[in-house]
Amino acid sequence: ADDIKKKLPLTDQKILVTAGPTYEAIDPVRFIGNHSSGKMGFALADELASLGADVTLIAGPTAQISKYHSIKRIDVVSAADMLTQCLEHFTDANACVMCAAVADYTPAHVSAQKIKKHDDGLNIQLKKTTDILKTLGQQKRANQVLVGFALETQNEEQYAIDKLQKKNLDLIVLNSLNDEGAGFKNDTNKVTLIDRSLNKTTYDLKNKTEVAHDICVKLTQLLKK
Ligand code: CTP
Ligand code: CA
Repeated sequence: ADDIKKKLPLTDQKILVTAGPTYEAIDPVRFIGNHSSGKMGFALADELASLGADVTLIAGPTAQISKYHSIKRIDVVSAADMLTQCLEHFTDANACVMCAAVADYTPAHVSAQKIKKHDDGLNIQLKKTTDILKTLGQQKRANQVLVGFALETQNEEQYAIDKLQKKNLDLIVLNSLNDEGAGFKNDTNKVTLIDRSLNKTTYDLKNKTEVAHDICVKLTQLLKK
């Protein structure tokens, strides 16, 4: 069995994957979240594990279950929790794929008690979260590979390239919500991969498992460079 394992393309590669949404608490019973299902990140973690990688999966609240027992799963709730875990596990990773839909804003104050309703409206003040991917991009060593996602509804390619450059990524996976069958809750996705040299590959609409495979092929090439 050891001989077979050694032949896999990602054996001995430690890869960090994030998946799912984050939940930002408003009070003990309410939160601000998003529609991420976690399917894409879990498909990526499974695919990486099947290629022999040593996968750590940092997951926001999700109903997904990994196929491989070898995947080390760390459950988190908020963007702040995810940042803490990413910082702890990025240092000894060869690559990180940041697939999670991290909240950009979080309530400035979390009410210790359930907020009671009143006749008027309610304003919740929000503050910015830390950009985890950008932070990892600043810490990245020359031999580490950092992959981000970009979810866009307009100017897709330009916004994706801006993110690739600003966050010091090696690869960005562009997800356009304009493509039928792509995005959050679907089992399918349609992506464009853009690397640092701005090589661009657009793929057909596929199962998230197949999309994960396409991303892993590119990631394997980047790790071998
Ligand atoms: N990301 C992150 N930390 C955040 C916000 C986003 O690590 N606080 C990561 C996401 O996981 C994704 C990438 O940054 O890999 C791009 O996320 P996206 O929401 O598309 O872009 P933003 O940079 O947040 O910009 P905007 O939402 O304004 O488009
Ligand atoms: Ca965002």
